[in-house]
Amino acid sequence: MAEHARCQIDLPSEETTERFARAFARVARPRLVIVLDGDLGAGKTTWVRAVLRAWGWNGPVRSPTYTLHETYDCAGVGRIHHLDLYRLAAPDELADLGLADLWAVPAVWFIEWPSRGVGHLPPIDVIMQWQHAMPGRRVRLSSSSAAGASVCDRWLDILQQQAASPSSPRIEITKLSG
Ligand SMILES: Nc1ncnc2c1ncn2[C@@H]1O[C@H](COP(=O)(O)OP(=O)(O)OP(=O)(O)O)[C@@H](O)[C@H]1O
Ligand SMILES: [Mg+2]
Repeated sequence: MAEHARCQIDLPSEETTERFARAFARVARPRLVIVLDGDLGAGKTTWVRAVLRAWGWNGPVRSPTYTLHETYDCAGVGRIHHLDLYRLAAPDELADLGLADLWAVPAVWFIEWPSRGVGHLPPIDVIMQWQHAMPGRRVRLSSSSAAGASVCDRWLDILQQQAASPSSPRIEITKLSG
């Protein structure tokens, strides 16, 4: 499916990355595949950790840089998989992780560095591209399925309501054409 609903989100501080994640946690449930692409150290794992915290996970959330794959079970949400494919030497190494059988089981998947696994990933719902910005970070968000579009719409609605509050730092949302 073609990409649609593109927008750009400015996150001026780590606190805003976490708030961005908490808003996502309110609307997202299995099944959903979210890929997080972009710069090294741009905040992808920080965002996933904050989503898991919002879903009630109190244990450690380590970056799967070396393990490649971490799994969590959150009451009321279900199974969450967190992948970091940065260290894959070739996309077909992903097949060796034995994940293909898991794609069909309802879960939320967060996949960092999806470009390293091209051709071996499940169908993607939401695409996030993270980059360093001044100040903070910038995310380009798009959906690539009906489920992804619905989640993004509800997620952005929550953020837009928050942006109207004078008490919290602003998360700037810019719609992108094309
Ligand atoms: N909006 C923000 N403004 C400033 N710093 C941020 C923001 N969001 C996250 N950070 C910081 O960015 C740093 C790197 O974050 P993180 O490890 O999550 O990046 P990553 O994208 O997962 O990196 P990698 O590609 O290596 O996996 C952390 O120290 C975090 O506090
Ligand atoms: Mg990371």
